[in-house]
Amino acid sequence: MTNVTKPLEPIQTGLLKSMRYMKRSYNNPLEHGQDLRREYGNVVMQKAGKMRIVHLFGADAHKLCLLNQNQTFSNKKAWDMIIGRVFPNGLMLRDGDDHRYHRRLMQAGFKSKAMQGYLAQMIPQVKTAVEGWAGQNEKLIYPTFKQMTLDLAASIFLGMNLGDDADKINNAFETTVAASMPRIPFAFPGTLLWRGIKARQTMCDFFLPMIEQRRSGEGQDLFSLLCKATDEDGNGYTDQEIVDHMIFLMMAAHDTTTSTLTSMVYALAKNPQWQERLLAEMDTLDLDDLTTDALGSTTETDWVIKESLRMYPPLSTLPKMSNTEFEYEGHLIPAGALVITYPIHTHYMSEYWDNPETFDPTRFGPEKAEHKRHNYSWVPFSGGAHMCIGLHFANMQIKLVLFEMLKNYSWHVPEGYEMPVQQSPISKPKDDLPMTFVAR
Ligand code: HEM
Repeated sequence: MTNVTKPLEPIQTGLLKSMRYMKRSYNNPLEHGQDLRREYGNVVMQKAGKMRIVHLFGADAHKLCLLNQNQTFSNKKAWDMIIGRVFPNGLMLRDGDDHRYHRRLMQAGFKSKAMQGYLAQMIPQVKTAVEGWAGQNEKLIYPTFKQMTLDLAASIFLGMNLGDDADKINNAFETTVAASMPRIPFAFPGTLLWRGIKARQTMCDFFLPMIEQRRSGEGQDLFSLLCKATDEDGNGYTDQEIVDHMIFLMMAAHDTTTSTLTSMVYALAKNPQWQERLLAEMDTLDLDDLTTDALGSTTETDWVIKESLRMYPPLSTLPKMSNTEFEYEGHLIPAGALVITYPIHTHYMSEYWDNPETFDPTRFGPEKAEHKRHNYSWVPFSGGAHMCIGLHFANMQIKLVLFEMLKNYSWHVPEGYEMPVQQSPISKPKDDLPMTFVAR
C-alpha cells in the first residue's frame, strides 16, 4: 500500500474554542496535547491569524525535528519570535553553520577541567546554602532553590562577588527572565516586555566594560573562558557576542535547574524510601574529595533525576519554524509554520512508558530500560545540534545540592498533598512547594 501525501488542513475551531485552546496550551500543555491528539491524531494544524501552528505528537516527531536533517527547521526563527527581544543571539537562537561555530567556541566553558573547577567552587557554597533548614515547617522550597541557583550562577559564571551591584544585577536578571515569555507581547512603557528590554540593557552595560580585563586575565569562570575562547585561527567572540551569550546562559541555566531541583525534591518527599536509597548510594562516595568523575558514577541518583525530568520536564514544549515544506505521516506541512513538539506529552505516552503517571525511577534501570524503547521518548534536554550544552553542569549541580540535603535532613509534605504545577513557560509549583525538614 502506498502512503498518499496530502496537504494538512487546519482544524476548524470557532473563536471561543480557539481562545480556550490558546489558554490551555499555555496553562496545561500536557492535557492540551493529550486532548488534541485524542481528537485529531498525531499531526494537528491550527490557524492563528496568518500564522500556522502545527502540533506534532510522539517520539518520531521529536526525532524528525531535533535531528533536523536538511535544515528543514529553524530554531532561530521560532525562538526569535518567542524570546528574541530580550535574549537576542543566544546560542539557541542560531542556526546551521553559524550555530555550529558559536557552539564550538562555547565548548571552552564546558570542558572537563572547567567543570572540575566549577565543582570545587560550588561545594562550599552549596554547603552554606543548605545550612539551617532543620525544624523548618513549610519552608518554601522553590524560591529557596531559585535564590541558590542565582547566587551560584553569579559566582561560577561570572567569577565574582557582585558586592554593591548584587541587587541591581539580580533584579535586572530576574526582570529579563520574567519578560522572556510575556503574556502581553508588546513593549509599551510599563509592560513587562518593556521592563525586560531595559533590564537587559542594564546587564549589557554591566558586562561590556569587564571584557577587556577578562580576556587578558587568568580567571577560570565561564565568563572569562568565553572571553578567551578562540578557534584554530585565533578568532574569538566579539564583545557583544560574549554579552549576548552570557545573558542567555544565565537564563538557560537558572530556571531550568531550579525547576528540576524542585520537582525532584517533591518526588522524593512523596516517595521517602527513595531518600533512603539515595542516601545509601551517596555513602559510597568520598564526599570530602568529590570529583566530577565520582559524581558521574552514581546509578540510582541518575534514575531519580531522569524520572523527575520525565514527569516534570522544565521545558514542556519545543518550538521550531519550518524553513521548507515537509512531509510527516502522510501530511504535507507548509513552510513558515511554527512546529511544536511536546516532551511533556511524549513523557506520558503509554506507548513508551509503563504506568506513566507513577514515579518509578527503576524504569531507567537495566531490567526495565523503558527509555530504550525509542531514542527520542525521553527528551528533557532536547536533542540533535541544539541539545542542551549545560546538561552535565546541571546534573553536577543537582547532585551536589541533593547530597548536601540528604546528608543533613529528611523532608516531607503533608499526607495527601499534591504539588500544583504550572507547566509553562518553565515548569514550577504554583504554591512554591512548602516542605518540612527534619535533621538526621
Ligand atoms: C536541568 C536543567 C536543564 C534543562 C532541563 C535544560 C533544557 C534545555 C533544552 C530543552 C534545550 C534545547 C532547546 C531547543 O531544542 O531549542 C537547552 C538548550 C540549551 N541549554 Fe539547557 N537545560 C538545563 C540546564 C542548562 C544549564 C545549567 C546551562 C548552562 C550552564 C544550559 C545552557 C543551554 C544552552 C546554551 C542551550 C542552547 C544550546 C544550543 O542551542 O546549542 N542549560 N536546554
